[in-house]
Amino acid sequence: MTNADLEKIVDTSDEWIASRTGIRERRIANGMVTSDLAVIAATNALEMSGTAKDEIEMIILGTVTPDYRLPSAACVVQQKMGLNNAAAFDVVAACTGFINALSIASSYIENGNIKKALVIGVEKLSTFTNFKDRNTCVIFGDGAGAVVVSAEEGDRGIINSFIKSDGRYLKLLWSEVGGAANPYSESFDFNGTDKIMMNGSDIFKIAVKEMSNATLKVINDAGLTVDDISIVVPHQANIRIIESLAKRIKISMDKVFLNIAKYGNTSAASVPLALDEANREGRIKDGDYVVMVAFGGGLIWGATLVKW
Ligand code: UT7
Repeated sequence: MTNADLEKIVDTSDEWIASRTGIRERRIANGMVTSDLAVIAATNALEMSGTAKDEIEMIILGTVTPDYRLPSAACVVQQKMGLNNAAAFDVVAACTGFINALSIASSYIENGNIKKALVIGVEKLSTFTNFKDRNTCVIFGDGAGAVVVSAEEGDRGIINSFIKSDGRYLKLLWSEVGGAANPYSESFDFNGTDKIMMNGSDIFKIAVKEMSNATLKVINDAGLTVDDISIVVPHQANIRIIESLAKRIKISMDKVFLNIAKYGNTSAASVPLALDEANREGRIKDGDYVVMVAFGGGLIWGATLVKW
C-alpha cells in the first residue's frame, strides 16, 4: 500500500507522510494470518542456518497481533511447521517484542538449558489499524522476521541485552477494547477504540531518549564505545526518531540501517526484517559489533549488542 493509496482513504499526502515519517510504502498481508507470515520467516531462518526442525527446543514469538486470543501464535507456528521438540510461547512487548524474545532465548542458552531457539518477530497490524485515523494508518504495516539462536563456543554471539518499560505511559499507545477490561459486545460502535490508538508526538520524545540510553548502555556495559559499533539496526518507527537517535549517540547515519521507506512500522517484525536485509545486503561482516534497539507501546524499550 503506497502513500498515494492512503491519500484516497484519509486526508493526507505523500509529502506529509514521507517528510514526517520516511515511509513511502507498507505491506498489507491480505488473505494471510500472522502465523502464515511467521512460518515463512521461520522456514527461511531454519534453511539459512542449516537447522533441522527437531533441533529447535524453544520458539519465542514477539507479537501483539496473534491469530487467536488463545493459544499463542508460537504454538500455531509450532503446529504448522511440525517443530515438535520445542516449548513455544509468545512475548507481548509491542515493537520491542523481538528484542525481549531474543534476550529470553539468550538467557536460556547461556544457562545451558537449551541449545537452539527460534526467535520470531511478526505482526499483522493491518487487522488492528483504524483506516479512518490518519494519525496511525499511515504508519503501520505487516511483516515478519526470524532468527535461529544457537549455543556455540567462541566470543561471537549475543554479548548483552537491556530491556525496560514504564507502564505509566500505557495510554500513549494502546487498544482499549477487546481485552478483559472492555470485552467486545455485539452491535456497539467502538469508534476505533478496538484498534490501535496513539499519541505520536509524546511517544517521539521518550523514544529518542530511551532508545539512545539503551543503545549506549549495551555498548558501555560491554566495555566498548560507539566507535566500535559497525551498524545500528533500529526499530523502524520514524526516520526522524532514528536520525535523532544517531545524533544523540554521535554515530554517523552511514552506520544506521534504514528500510522504513518500504515497510513502515511493523512493530515486533521491524528489527528482524531490518537485520535480515542488512545481512543480505552485506552490511554485516563476521566479527562486527551490531546493536539492535527498539521502542514501543507499554511504553517499552530495549537493546541487544551482538558480535556477528
Ligand atoms: O512504534 C513505536 C511507537 N510509535 C512511535 O514511535 C511513533 C512516534 N511518533 C511519530 O512517529 C510522530 O509523532 C508521527 C509521525 C506519528 C506524527 O508526526 P508529528 O510530527 O509528531 O505530527 P503531529 O502529531 O504533531 O501532527 C502535526 C500535524 C497536525 O495538524 P495541526 O494540528 O498542526 O494542524 C496533525 O493533525 O499534522 C497533522 N497530521 C497529518 N497530516 C497529514 C497528523 N497525521 C497526519 C497525516 N497526514 N497522516
